[in-house]
Amino acid sequence: MCWLLLKRENQILKANNYIIENFSDHHLDDVIQIERLSNPTPWKEETFKSVLSSRTLSFVIIKEKIIGFCIATKVLNECHLQNICVLPDYRKMGVGKNILEILNKRCKIHELKKIILEVRESNSGAQAFYTKSGFNKIGLRKDYYQLGNQREPAVLMSQILV
Ligand SMILES: CC(C)(COP(=O)(O)OP(=O)(O)OC[C@H]1O[C@@H](n2cnc3c(N)ncnc32)[C@H](O)[C@@H]1OP(=O)(O)O)[C@@H](O)C(=O)NCCC(=O)NCCS
Repeated sequence: MCWLLLKRENQILKANNYIIENFSDHHLDDVIQIERLSNPTPWKEETFKSVLSSRTLSFVIIKEKIIGFCIATKVLNECHLQNICVLPDYRKMGVGKNILEILNKRCKIHELKKIILEVRESNSGAQAFYTKSGFNKIGLRKDYYQLGNQREPAVLMSQILV
């Protein structure tokens, strides 16, 4: 089972000429740069550093340079997908979908049953992206995100892993 999942991950990598590396401190500068281009309230360097200790599921995707990343942690038998970003020039080309496929395989290797995430209510593009990859909306968290001087809700989404 584990071997089959790793084989599938390798197929995705070979087909797209990607290199995957587990998220490490030497990726920080590039990851922060992509984050700044992607998020209205970007994560600070300290936030990225704080997830380095629980990075089992987190990785960067490289094609000549880092073109995307996924930050996810294990919470009991669930995966909390905390951040996913693709470099703007590489969007709408299937990179995000590949990232979610690779995360999905990694979760299965760790026998996790579910992926959960929060996404800004105003980020309808990301919600559409997650829905296309099999996530469902399961709730709303009021005032979850900062947006300028105000707060905005998070849409809570999940995907059951089968
Ligand atoms: C959300 C994000 C990761 C998607 O990555 P991507 O590489 O562009 O996504 P893909 O090309 O793999 O798209 C997969 C599917 O989602 C759809 N999709 C992607 N972005 C979309 C958008 N903004 N609006 C509607 N659909 C979208 C694609 O059309 C595609 O559908 P298809 O399978 O029918 O062709 C990327 O837009 C991004 O980095 N956004 C900024 C950061 C962000 O918002 N992250 C989420 C925070 S919770």
